[in-house]
Amino acid sequence: VGKPFTPEYIRIVVGKAVDKIRLQEETEQLREERTLSLEAINKEQSRLKTVFGCMVEAVIITDREGVVVHHNPAAITILEIQTDPVVGKSLAASIRDASAVDMILEAIDKAQVVTREFPPGSISRRYLRAHCAPVRSNGGDVLGSVTVFEDISAHKEIDRMKSDFVAMVAHELKSPLASIEQMIYALQVGCKYEALHSCNTLHNRMVVRTRDLLQLIENLLNLSKLESGTVVFHLEPVRGHEILADIIDIVRPQAEAKGLKINYTPCREDWWFSVDYDHIRSAFLNIISNAVKYTPEGGVVDISTSLSGGLASIVVKDSGIGIGKEDLPHIFDRFFRVKGKATRHITGSGLGLALVKKVVEAHKGYIDVQSELDCGTTFTLRFPLTELQAVP
Ligand SMILES: Nc1ncnc2c1ncn2[C@@H]1O[C@H](COP(=O)(O)OP(=O)(O)OP(=O)(O)O)[C@@H](O)[C@H]1O
Ligand SMILES: [Mg+2]
Repeated sequence: VGKPFTPEYIRIVVGKAVDKIRLQEETEQLREERTLSLEAINKEQSRLKTVFGCMVEAVIITDREGVVVHHNPAAITILEIQTDPVVGKSLAASIRDASAVDMILEAIDKAQVVTREFPPGSISRRYLRAHCAPVRSNGGDVLGSVTVFEDISAHKEIDRMKSDFVAMVAHELKSPLASIEQMIYALQVGCKYEALHSCNTLHNRMVVRTRDLLQLIENLLNLSKLESGTVVFHLEPVRGHEILADIIDIVRPQAEAKGLKINYTPCREDWWFSVDYDHIRSAFLNIISNAVKYTPEGGVVDISTSLSGGLASIVVKDSGIGIGKEDLPHIFDRFFRVKGKATRHITGSGLGLALVKKVVEAHKGYIDVQSELDCGTTFTLRFPLTELQAVP
């Protein structure tokens, strides 16, 4: 283009330059936006990866053909997967149980959520609950599936324990009630013909069985309150020697009637502990009356106390029937009673020691037991002394 430049030409050149600059600016802006969105995607991905990695549940993600596209580390342990790598292979290559694979394919096929439980031995050794959901595109097409496997073994175990407990309680209540019912019937029919004294005997037996039943229900209620943590302990400083001497006075007539000797050897120091008087009293009473109950005529029950390391120890030692090695680990279990010739005629609910343990632990104490069959049993209870009297 020859000179001189016409105004029209200058306008065109300037216009082109302005357009070029704008284009450059727009390109730069686009580049910046792309970098930012790539960073955001990266961030999102690593966040998702962290979430998946931290989950205690197993997560498996598949495409619509059922090929694994992603899984978290928990999937390997919970589903006990042996295949390596899992990603890129069909579900059937990694998941042992065919019905679990079918469940995921069903969720994809029907495009709906499927939930199912798998008992131990099907997918793994655990009890699993699977929750499988289809993944859809924005348009609504099914792209694949996400399945979460939750380990519910602990829930199932608690459920089983609850049912066992209800069955145990029902059984424990049924047998005394059945025998009371029989006695009522015998009284109704028999009193017309029998002598008065045999009717009285039956009547007395009914009273005893009813009292046992009430005691059992009382123990059960106490235990359930202690276990649910709804018991409010009224702690007060209690003199150790006093509470033990009181209980021994209560038990002594019962022991002497049986020809047993009770020796009490308190330590020289006067000691105090901070406890709920009623609860601790019934715990001590149970241990000491067990010693009397499970020691045959002519035996000895030795009770002694000592202080060391800021703790008071109360030792209750009897020369009774003892507890076998196989039974010893269970004596604090609810309703556990040693079955055998020596205990056949001794009554009880089997709740006493379960209650004692709860009460002792609630007072930050410890309880130990040592026993040898036919030689005797020693229970040791330890409690923190109140600070004023703490012995170094
Ligand atoms: N000193 C002991 N010597 C021998 N066996 C014992 C002694 N103490 C407890 N046992 C055994 O442990 C079981 C559980 O004791 P626990 O005090 O819980 O129940 P119980 O005495 O049978 O009934 P409850 O205390 O409710 O009247 C007893 O049935 C008995 O077999
Ligand atoms: Mg008892």
